[in-house]
Amino acid sequence: MNSSITHQVLLAKRPEGAPGPEVFEFTEAPAPRPGDNEFVVRVDYLSMDPALVGRMRAEQNYAESATPGEVMHAYGVGTVIASNWAQAPVGQQRLGRFDMQEYALCNASSFGFPINTERVPASWYLSVLGATGATAWLSFYDICMPKKGETLVISSAGSSVGTVVAQLARAEGCRVVGIVSTEEKAARVSEEWSYDAVLAYRGKSIDVLAAALRQACPDGIDMYYDNTSGDISEALLDLYNVGARIAVVGRAALSHLPDTRQDVGRRDNNVILSRRIRKQGFVLTDHHDRMPEAMLSLGGLVHEGKLSVKVDVMQGIEQVPAAFLRMLRGENNGKQLVRLTSE
Ligand SMILES: NC(=O)c1ccc[n+]([C@@H]2O[C@H](COP(=O)([O-])OP(=O)(O)OC[C@H]3O[C@@H](n4cnc5c(N)ncnc54)[C@H](OP(=O)(O)O)[C@@H]3O)[C@@H](O)[C@H]2O)c1
Repeated sequence: MNSSITHQVLLAKRPEGAPGPEVFEFTEAPAPRPGDNEFVVRVDYLSMDPALVGRMRAEQNYAESATPGEVMHAYGVGTVIASNWAQAPVGQQRLGRFDMQEYALCNASSFGFPINTERVPASWYLSVLGATGATAWLSFYDICMPKKGETLVISSAGSSVGTVVAQLARAEGCRVVGIVSTEEKAARVSEEWSYDAVLAYRGKSIDVLAAALRQACPDGIDMYYDNTSGDISEALLDLYNVGARIAVVGRAALSHLPDTRQDVGRRDNNVILSRRIRKQGFVLTDHHDRMPEAMLSLGGLVHEGKLSVKVDVMQGIEQVPAAFLRMLRGENNGKQLVRLTSE
């Protein structure tokens, strides 16, 4: 890597439907130098998150939108290589929003914090010990409130968040049913993550998926961990038990819509009322103060061998668009990361 230059991936244009390669553009710029109270991070790994689609849109969102021509937003882990801020000394490893570039200029108000990589690899801070693990842990316990013997359904069951929730639910003695894109993926996810059953949604109508869910959940559904929204979630509507809890955590199935207000489907109030269902959205950035608590608990579970993690790594900044689009197609096997450094 030539440290006088930083290679960058820009948001070239907003996606009109599902994002394709045209939304990205490569460029390079002089590598940043730190001013007063600033530091420069060499980005070691970038995380390819489904939520970045929301940042590509102009629509008012829970996360800040990227502007066309700007370096595309992304979270990563990296190493401080130059610093004029005492709290980020050279050599420190950090998790932060470093965006799709090799070197990031940061200051005290940039989102990020130091990480300890003595016992776990840095990449785990972008999966089980980072936003995905914390999202899974906090939302599952706070919203789903699991009880032994209950049935939980997870959409995007093979995702980083989904597989952490599945393991937590199994440990609580729940029946865990997953939904993924293809039959092939269902077989793999079922075997690797010990689900009780995993169903494929691709190519199925809402009614056909609902019938498959009815078979996989003979005692009805007590909890739904919703990573997708859309038609997949609609398929559960007639299967909820009284007192069910729904955690709305993602909307991957709406990523083709330029505006989520275009999402139409069956209204759910009748089911929510008659089944006394509690449905709640979750956004991790509301819970920064609880990240240390979540990371400590997750770290303990990993250490005890009760929680596994899987990452799927591509190499080099030139692979960022391919890695991102591959994740949107569901072809990743583990959290999709791109490694920018070779050391
Ligand atoms: N609310 C929060 O604060 C928060 C924080 C972190 C993550 N999340 C959400 O948690 C979910 C999982 O995130 P992650 O980082 O764990 O994901 P991930 O490991 O990167 O996996 C993403 C998966 O999403 C599925 N997917 C992609 N496009 C889809 C589509 N059009 N329809 C249905 N499914 C699609 C694919 O699985 P299939 O092949 O099975 O379709 C893909 O493998 C996402 O919805 C994300 O937005 C929310």
